[in-house]
Formats: sequence, C-alpha cells, structure tokens
Amino acid sequence: MAKNNDELFKNVISHAKEYGFVFQSSEIYDGLSAVYDYGQLGAELKNNIKTYWWKAMVQMNENIVGIDSAIFMHPKIWKASGHVDGFNDPMIDNKDSKKRYRADQLLEDKISRYEKDGKTDKAEKLQQDMDEALKAEDLPRLKALIEEHEIVCPVSGTRNWTDVRQFNLMFSTQMGAMADGSDEVYLRPETAQGIFVNFLNVQKSGRMKIPFGIAQIGKAFRNEVIARQFIMRMREFEQMEMQFFVRPGTEMEWYKHWKETRLKWHLALGTNPDKYRFHDHTKLAHYANAAVDIEFEFPFGFKEVEGIHSRTDFDLSQHQEFSGKKMQFFDPEINQNYVPYVIETSIGLDRFFLLTLINSFEEQDLSTADKQDSRSVLHLHPALAPYKAAVLPLTKKDGLPEKAREIMNRLKLDFNMAYDEKDSIGKRYRRQDAIGTPFCITVDHQSLEDNTVTIRHRDSMEQERVAIDELENMIAKLVSW
Ligand code: GAP
Repeated sequence: MAKNNDELFKNVISHAKEYGFVFQSSEIYDGLSAVYDYGQLGAELKNNIKTYWWKAMVQMNENIVGIDSAIFMHPKIWKASGHVDGFNDPMIDNKDSKKRYRADQLLEDKISRYEKDGKTDKAEKLQQDMDEALKAEDLPRLKALIEEHEIVCPVSGTRNWTDVRQFNLMFSTQMGAMADGSDEVYLRPETAQGIFVNFLNVQKSGRMKIPFGIAQIGKAFRNEVIARQFIMRMREFEQMEMQFFVRPGTEMEWYKHWKETRLKWHLALGTNPDKYRFHDHTKLAHYANAAVDIEFEFPFGFKEVEGIHSRTDFDLSQHQEFSGKKMQFFDPEINQNYVPYVIETSIGLDRFFLLTLINSFEEQDLSTADKQDSRSVLHLHPALAPYKAAVLPLTKKDGLPEKAREIMNRLKLDFNMAYDEKDSIGKRYRRQDAIGTPFCITVDHQSLEDNTVTIRHRDSMEQERVAIDELENMIAKLVSW
C-alpha cells in the first residue's frame, strides 16, 4: 500500500508499465527523455478518452465540427501566431555540471523551499520579483535573483552560472532538400493554429453560422527543457482543442459557458469534485481577455489539465495580416462583416490520461481476520476501460472453454473483450481488476445446463447470475456514458 503521495505516484508509474499502459520510448536504448509509448492497454484507454471528448464536443453539439489538420504548416503561421518570437523559456546553464535549467523553475523551487521552511515573507518577495522579471522579459534580473538567493545547481552543488538566455520551444526541421534555412519548418507546438488557418474553409464548406466551433485531436511537440513527472510534461504529446468562434462582445458569456461545460465533462466521469479546482489567471497573455485553468490534484499538487482562454480576435487578425487574406465572417443577423472572437478549450490528452490512471488506481486491503489479502484495482469508468468485459471459463475442460468462446465471439462484435483461461479464477479476477475491466463473465458447469453465467462486478466484487442472451444488452447499458 502506498504510504504517501510520492509512493502512490511511483506505484502508478510501475503499474502503467507492468500492465502495458505506458512504456518509456526507446527503452532498450536506455530511453529518450520525456518521450513515451502507449502499450496495448494504453492505446485502448487513450482511444476511449478521445471518443469521450469527441462525442461530448463534436457529436453532442450541432454547431461544432471536427477536423484533422497536418502537423507541418507554413512557417509564416508560427511567425503570425507569435511562437517564433515569443514561445520561449528563460534558460540558464551551470558551467560545472553542464546541466541546463529553466531559470524560473530554479526560482520556483527556491520559493517552495522558503515556504517549507516557514520563510513566507522571503517566498512572497521572491515570487513578486520573479513575476516582474518574467513579465518584463528582464533576463539579467532573473540571473541576479538566482545569485542573490544563492541557488546552487542540484547536480554540481556550485553557483557557477551562465547568463540567462531565451530558448525557443519549437522543434524545427528542413522540408525538401534545400539547406539554406529558407525551407525551415516546425513541428506544431499546438493544434490550435491548424484550426485558425482553416476557419474559412470549414465555415464556407460546412455552411457554419456564428457561433460555431472547430475541434481537433492531434500531436503537438515542444522542446521542454524541464521534463519530469512521467507523462505530465512531454516533448511529444497530444492535445484535444476546440476553438469556438463568436460575435465580438459576446465572448464573456461564451467563456463562462465553456468554463462550466468543460468542468462538467470532467466530473461526469464520477471524479470527486474536491479533486478539481479552477485557477483564474490574473496575469493574461497579450492576446487574451480572460483565461482559466482547470486543475486536478495530482500526488504532486494541483496542476493544470485544461486551459480555457478567451483569445479575442488575436489569432485570426494576425493570420489576416500575415497571409493578406480576409479572415472575416458576414453575419446576416446584424448585416456586418467582422473578424470573430474566439473561446478556446485546450486539454492535454496525455495529462488527462495520467489523471485518469491516478484517480482510478487503488491498492485495496482485503485482509480478513484469518487471511492477509490485497488487490490493485483501476476503478475506471466502464466507458473508458480498455476491455469492457472478460470471458473466463471456470476450468479448461468439460466443454467450458468452448462455451466461453461462443460467448466471446458474440460479444466481441460489439465490445472490446478479453478472454482468459490461464491460472486460477481468483488470479484471473485480480488481473482484470488491475487493468480496470469492469465485468468478468464466468462460464461454469451450470452454464452448460441453463445458459446462464455469473457476472462479477469489479468495484463491489459482487456476483450475479444472468442469462447469456441478456449479456449484450446488459453490458451495453453498463458501459454507456
Ligand atoms: N492552444 C493553447 C495551448 O496550447 P497550453 O496551455 O500551452 O495552451 C494546453 O496547452 C494543454 O496542453 C495544457 O493544459 C496541458 O494539458 C497540455 N500540455 C501542454 N504542454 C504539455 C506537455 N509538454 N506535455 C503534456 N501536455 C502538455
């Protein structure tokens, strides 16, 4: 059993590996930092999360459509969006260890240390100084703060620092065979720009009327310097983003709508609402007039999972300017042309995946007076579970596997099913508990006589007897949203 949050987090990570949810990328070559692969069950869980999001955002909203834009885009797009000039982290190197750090992260760590030591005044002052320096992009001041507060390199233990420099987070590569820099392209650092530049294509071809939204799920790439906490901060990750285009002046009402709607989406999975909170931004990016994070309480504290931003007409206006093409909508209701305002909802798929694992993982003590016992269980919402049910013949003989196969072949047309006949039934139940399968269907000798089976429920471990003919309806009902 996990004794504290660090241990719980470690246990979740090893559980994710042991059962084929997440592997370190290139593991046999000692791994690639902050890059991960999803295994056989991880891919299923990830797909189910995507479906849950797509259903809620696209299928349930007649005025939202989904697209799938390319990862490579014209390099001017990233100039227009501000990423070429402004998507930077302030970096500093330690000359002895040759290790690179984010200057603001070193300062944040120091602030946490002051707080832990009860030096609240110092913590507050440093926070204020750092915020001011970051806002003014005053890099020498950041270095001065690192020196003043005697911050040492965690590896070398020395204070031999370089100057602070801006480090752009976009990955770039060459397109085609030229190497003169004119053909430099970027791996997109967010999916949103693929939506903005297709705004008119979708609006016209889909005959969309404002307000309407465009959604997309896809990969994004950021050369994160501080990469830690497993799949929380990766260099290659996936986003699920939606841009909602509205008439200028109505954006605050839509911002409120999406803020509430998105939290409901999170809570509809049955998560304890105390685990969530909003974090309203007080310091806004230059293009935003309101922004909030939906934060979840991870074992390492409350952290952002999703951002909802009121982005004004910034992105579309920038693309209008840089491309020379009008990005306007003619609104027949008010007989006016305008550049729409945008409310964005942006959630990290991998971060939500991690949230789901952490939130559903339990090491349950099942000991009784005369027997020590425990199980690891993933209490996944049935709609997210990789397998909806497992078919388990009680023994490997007497025609039970054949009967079980019959059931399996019927159910697998509609559901992702597991089949297992190896080991004792108890061990098999525990294996399904550990991977979050909500129901186990056990085929026993009685099944051969009266065409019934037992269904064992993962969370309560209770069993009930049901007719084989009822299974499809029953599972469909239990795994629906
Ligand atoms: N289009 C807006 C945008 O990209 P963001 O706050 O930079 O906003 C949105 O990212 C979400 O993407 C975050 O809330 C987080 O869940 C996820 N995300 C961002 N960087 C990430 C990373 N390096 N690894 C995993 N997820 C990340």
